[in-house]
Amino acid sequence: MSILLDVKDVAKRFGGLTALKDVTFSVAEGEIVGLIGPNGAGKTTCFNVISGTLPLSDGRITFQGQDIVGLRPNRIIRMGLARTYQATSVFPHSTALENVMRGAFCRSEDTFLGSMLATRASREAQSKERDRCMAILDRVGIAHVHDHLAGALPYGYQRRLGVAIALASSPKVIMMDEPAAGLNPEESMAMGQLIRDIHTDGQVSVLIVEHDMKLVMGICDRIIVLDHGEQIAAGSPNEVRNNPQVIEAYLGTEVEA
Ligand SMILES: Nc1ncnc2c1ncn2[C@@H]1O[C@H](COP(=O)(O)OP(=O)(O)O)[C@@H](O)[C@H]1O
Ligand SMILES: [Mg+2]
Repeated sequence: MSILLDVKDVAKRFGGLTALKDVTFSVAEGEIVGLIGPNGAGKTTCFNVISGTLPLSDGRITFQGQDIVGLRPNRIIRMGLARTYQATSVFPHSTALENVMRGAFCRSEDTFLGSMLATRASREAQSKERDRCMAILDRVGIAHVHDHLAGALPYGYQRRLGVAIALASSPKVIMMDEPAAGLNPEESMAMGQLIRDIHTDGQVSVLIVEHDMKLVMGICDRIIVLDHGEQIAAGSPNEVRNNPQVIEAYLGTEVEA
């Protein structure tokens, strides 16, 4: 199994606050890896430094063997490392399909200007791209609302749209920040199934941050646990579930589920 994403000794400080310290883990081809920890543990910050949204303070991050520290977020997406956001982050005044097509723009060097010139070749390319994006919407189960404004979609659909936008860049690894946040148990289970499907038939590796322990334990091959920015455990779902330090970190919250 070849390693796709490799995170080594990563640190992130916000002034005096250490949000991440010596974080080291990897995601190999074909894996679903969980990143869990109590609120404020540094999970989103970890995604932000990997995706290039925030500069890191220390450490090394490679993707498919290439150093990605300091690269712009779009460049990292183009390399095959996409993400979804903890809060829904769709363009509310664009349709679902337009949102996915924007996601796809990251994939190519093509520019909006180029597409506006509307040559025959670019029109054909656009129509092909539209079909591809429709297929992605279909895959996440919301093709029937492709022409609805994203902001008017039910919350659960907006979460799925976030996944579709990430998929539009044809990622090798997709990082998902709490994909089931705000979903009811049934929708949450369906999201778990969707992630499994993407992983299996799309051959996409997944790094997932999620509080829904049932979901995490059910789909992950390996789990990394952060607490106060430090990695306190790593292992199989069972190892992590029974780790005293993890139980301690989650004291008062639900780790069993
Ligand atoms: N942009 C920022 N500026 C300052 N502090 C931040 C910023 N982003 C996150 N933090 C702090 O870093 C810590 C980790 O936050 P975060 O990564 O959002 O945690 P999690 O996603 O695990 O809940 C928190 O103490 C948070 O307040
Ligand atoms: Mg977070």
